[in-house]
Amino acid sequence: MKRSFFLVSPLFILIIMAGCTPLKKSPEPAPDQVEAVSGTEQPAEIAKTETTEPQIFEPGSFDNPKNCRECHRQIYEEWSHSMHSKAWTDQWYQPDFQLAHEETEGATDMLCGACHAPIAARTGQLPPADGSKFDQTSQQGISCDFCHTISGIDQMYNMGQISSPGPIKRGPRGDGRSLYHEVQYSELHTKADLCGSCHMVIHPANGTRIIDTWEDWKSNQYGKKGITCQDCHMTPTPGIAINPGRSSLMGKRRETVAFHGFIGGSSYIQEEMGNHAQAEMSREFLRAAAELKLAEKVTEDGTLELTVDVHNVGAGHKIPTGTTYIRIMWLQVEVADASGKVVYSSGQVDENNHVDPDAVFFRVLFRDADSNLTGKSWRAQSIGYDRRIPAKGMDSETYRIPLPAQGEYQITTRLMYRSVAQQSLDEIFTRTGQQLPPVVSVEMASAQTRVSR
Ligand code: HEC
Ligand code: HEC
Ligand code: HEC
Ligand code: HEC
Ligand code: HEC
Repeated sequence: MKRSFFLVSPLFILIIMAGCTPLKKSPEPAPDQVEAVSGTEQPAEIAKTETTEPQIFEPGSFDNPKNCRECHRQIYEEWSHSMHSKAWTDQWYQPDFQLAHEETEGATDMLCGACHAPIAARTGQLPPADGSKFDQTSQQGISCDFCHTISGIDQMYNMGQISSPGPIKRGPRGDGRSLYHEVQYSELHTKADLCGSCHMVIHPANGTRIIDTWEDWKSNQYGKKGITCQDCHMTPTPGIAINPGRSSLMGKRRETVAFHGFIGGSSYIQEEMGNHAQAEMSREFLRAAAELKLAEKVTEDGTLELTVDVHNVGAGHKIPTGTTYIRIMWLQVEVADASGKVVYSSGQVDENNHVDPDAVFFRVLFRDADSNLTGKSWRAQSIGYDRRIPAKGMDSETYRIPLPAQGEYQITTRLMYRSVAQQSLDEIFTRTGQQLPPVVSVEMASAQTRVSR
């Protein structure tokens, strides 16, 4: 019962943007600075419209993941350190959610909550937006029983999964025996669509792609060959690896067991939450995704023409993907003379932990009603900036750098990544007083070369 992808389902038309109030005109911010600039805007006016109710079940209909832990120890361990388990409590999510709530007078509560707190949203515990009605199970984000009781997909965006909570747990096999629950084979659980309906966020009022991971995957070579999200993200190492073992006490031995850490780019957040092993896996994923290749020549007038090719060699979607309006990926370039003196640099981090605003950025930003660039997803009217590296594809940038004198020069280039821009954290601090630790950069790839003039 898949609906047309391009139609916004009445089920999810929760909000309609009734045009935003005029904002202060400011010079167009550099991509990395936009969050700081957008902090002083006035509330957007959003009108609520009539809507079909989403699926609602009795509180307690979904099992607490602690109950699954009794037998599925290893999987519980992995999941409890995943971002899915923190999807609601995440200190980096909450400020954005609360700001959306304030600026839209609550119109976004159920939209965001549907994905970030799916059990709360489906058991009538949201609203209120402060989570005060959440029980223990709802607090734990996207948990075991939510995913393993999905019985179908209604639409491939904005959380169209159909829930059938109860004794039947659906999974990729169906041949196991459990004393606690029934087991049923579900083809859907082996398909990217299971993930895609959440990893595909569309602005309900104007169709702007807020997150486009699934759609992007579907149309690229990975999607066409059926290499799924699970193939890459439900293994502990980058690439399509095996993970032999048992999924449960008393379970059968399997050639490979689905890993539940759902590793992505969030090494900084994982490190801050004390999950060092997950943070390291995340850095490995980031390093496996990209490669840099250089082509250089020096012209007769002594100008270095340096072309940096950024290749996406390991990710099944564009890099970066997901919340690329919060994340940044950028190029660092440094040219030093024979004595080590830096004669040119781009993309460096300053003493306030901000990235050089003139750097080459790979990310997405939206355009709001006043044509200003913004990282606030709920204000998006269209895409304002989108530069990312397609799966198995590349993008290149040419730098023209005057070399001051004759001699040898050392060139160093790096592809850098931050799962959150520092400006977002500064902005949270200004607004709420909540001080989040300075964001840490990860080097995804690097390349060096030498030239002489
Ligand atoms: C009493 C122990 C026990 C508890 C508690 C338990 N399970 Fe299981 N579960 C098993 C066993 C045993 C298997 C079969 C494993 C095998 O042989 O591969 C299994 C298999 C599964 C499968 C795989 C289905 C398939 O065939 O693909 C899923 C999914 C699952 N359990 C989910 C859950 C969830 C969700 C919970 C908590 C609500 C839970 N289990 C609680 C023992 C348990
Ligand atoms: C985001 C959704 C999601 C969450 C949350 C989740 N799972 Fe899974 N799980 C899956 C998918 C998808 C598979 C099948 C992956 C594959 O084999 O392609 C799976 C596989 C399994 C299996 C079968 C493993 C195997 O290889 O035989 C078990 C058992 C299981 N999950 C239990 C759990 C338990 C217990 C939790 C909570 C601690 C949990 N899952 C949380 C999506 C999820
Ligand atoms: C119910 C909605 C939902 C489903 C289903 C879902 N996800 Fe997620 N996923 C999320 C949300 C929300 C986050 C972000 C949580 C946060 O950072 O607070 C996330 C985060 C992630 C991350 C990022 C981790 C990081 O380190 O940045 C990966 C990777 C991921 N999911 C993979 C998957 C895969 C693979 C599946 C399918 C097996 C899946 N997800 C199913 C909602 C979902
Ligand atoms: C060929 C392997 C592969 C496939 C297929 C794949 N991914 Fe990824 N994914 C990666 C790698 C490697 C990274 C780390 C690079 C990065 O963070 O962009 C990543 C990063 C992510 C992130 C973190 C966001 C970011 O850019 O930091 C999310 C979320 C995610 N993937 C979700 C998905 C979903 C959902 C699917 C299926 C629709 C999927 N991935 C398919 C390899 C894959
Ligand atoms: C259809 C599902 C869905 C909806 C609706 C949704 N999100 Fe998300 N959100 C995700 C997924 C999936 C990710 C993880 C993507 C990634 O890792 O790049 C995410 C990640 C985030 C993050 C980053 C968290 C972190 O730890 O870095 C923030 C902040 C966020 N969402 C805020 C919101 C807000 C605010 C809303 C409502 C206006 C919202 N989201 C609505 C699916 C959703």
